[in-house]
Amino acid sequence: MELKMNVNGQPVAVEVAPTEPLLQVLRERLGLVGAKEPCGKGECGGCTVLMNGQTVNACLVMAAQAEGAEVLTVEGLAAPDGKLHPVQQAFVEAGAVQCGYCMTGMVMSAFSLLQQNPQPTEAEIKEGMEGNLCRCTGYQKVFDAVNLAAGRLR
Ligand code: FES
Ligand code: FES
Repeated sequence: MELKMNVNGQPVAVEVAPTEPLLQVLRERLGLVGAKEPCGKGECGGCTVLMNGQTVNACLVMAAQAEGAEVLTVEGLAAPDGKLHPVQQAFVEAGAVQCGYCMTGMVMSAFSLLQQNPQPTEAEIKEGMEGNLCRCTGYQKVFDAVNLAAGRLR
């Protein structure tokens, strides 16, 4: 099938198998390798992107389900001149990035959370980020980063 969707504000049309994961389409056909594939089973959140404004695990979304969708990946967050989005900048400044493997998923979940709830409590941040696993940071610096980003975005 020919999959048509908008990715990071740009229309794309690409030949895919209907059951091909959206993550594979993004990474292997469109060269958008920001979303990672740590598990490929919907368990870690490393492949998180936004589809029609909602976070999804791109490893679980079939290409056919993305037909006509608006998809936002981490590559679409930074400004055209390369300036980091405030959420990305906050993760850097809070020291929340270690190996980085989980980070793009974390950033996309934080971005989505703050769009829906600009002033989350600590509990709401933990709840909003619970689908994203990290083996390095112990999570506190991630929560600090989301808090920092929330303040700046307000
Ligand atoms: S790679 Fe998709 S949830 Fe882990
Ligand atoms: S920074 Fe290494 S898995 Fe999260």
